[in-house]
Amino acid sequence: MEKTILTGIKPTGQIHVGNYVGAIKPALELAKVPEYEAAYFIADYHGLTKIHDAKEFRQLSYGIAATWLALGLDPEKVIFYRQSDVPEIFELNWILGCFSSKGLMNRAHAYKAIVDQNKSQERDVDYGVNMGLFNYPILMTADILMFKTDVVPVGKDQIQHVEIARDIAESFNKNYGETFVLPEYKIQEDTAVLPGLDGRKMSKSYNNTIPLFVEEKKLQKLINKIKTDSLPPEASKDPDASVLFMIYKEFATPLEVEKMKEQFVSGIGWGDVKRELFHVMNRYLEQPREKYNELMAAPEKLDEILKVGAETARSISSQFLKEIKQKIGIQ
Ligand code: ADP
Ligand code: TRP
Repeated sequence: MEKTILTGIKPTGQIHVGNYVGAIKPALELAKVPEYEAAYFIADYHGLTKIHDAKEFRQLSYGIAATWLALGLDPEKVIFYRQSDVPEIFELNWILGCFSSKGLMNRAHAYKAIVDQNKSQERDVDYGVNMGLFNYPILMTADILMFKTDVVPVGKDQIQHVEIARDIAESFNKNYGETFVLPEYKIQEDTAVLPGLDGRKMSKSYNNTIPLFVEEKKLQKLINKIKTDSLPPEASKDPDASVLFMIYKEFATPLEVEKMKEQFVSGIGWGDVKRELFHVMNRYLEQPREKYNELMAAPEKLDEILKVGAETARSISSQFLKEIKQKIGIQ
């Protein structure tokens, strides 16, 4: 039997090279596995916990949609939709909220991190916390359980959320009998955590990213900004300790990677490495960038594609929601 694989990305920033390598690329690979039926979506209502500017929010949501499509997601093969277009998810969100203990939410890491920070700064523990953020894991649970998801490909930071989804599903099933599939997470152990311009993990929170589809000149500029040490060109260098090499590996051919490794050992200047890095990245991103720009200039096209996806998603979710409502005694 086919297994359902589902994942979402929230529109809270421009997609960067780290997101691509760590999340999008592996998800696109998994969508090709014949035994998986894939559902990928834009988690826009999750993004609303953070982005409160309408124009920015709309652009960021379109940006995620255009990114997936530009990188090769085939909407004929993957159910591709916007979370906010599937109202059944929000009805399920409420139902599941009634099976989620508050203590479980208190322990969710995103909320806990803010509380800890507030404590350390001697502020009210809930300073800056909206209820959307607090309930975030319940909505994510609704996303997952609604489509009887077996496998959720996510980054390490999301493991806890998938575990919460299992807990909530179990507590519902215990009360009403087998209803929800218990999801499992899938982590890409072999994908690197890509460093950013300053050597820390590339992340929009650190402002050290290379946005995936920046124009050529900007790409070159950003690559030039990547921090290096002060070893002279002729000095032998350790490729595995180099941010430039880690990024290079993701975009170059295996042969190019081998060659670059040798050059590191025999001595190569950082300027030359940066030039080569720009060359392989730009070669790889040129076409998707063009497609991305085309799509961003035609948002009605994106709306059309997402609408079709939402119809498919709703045909599944409305049926299942009916069953769930019968179980709880509403219909
Ligand atoms: P950010 O850290 O920029 O806020 P998100 O937390 O929105 O990124 O991450 C979205 C997805 O991209 C997650 O699956 C996450 O694991 C992955 N990801 C983010 N940054 C990196 C990185 N530097 N290297 C690899 N994967 C990453
Ligand atoms: N919380 C995820 C993130 O921050 C995004 C997300 C929302 C998600 N709903 C989901 C991921 C359901 C997987 C499945 O990256």
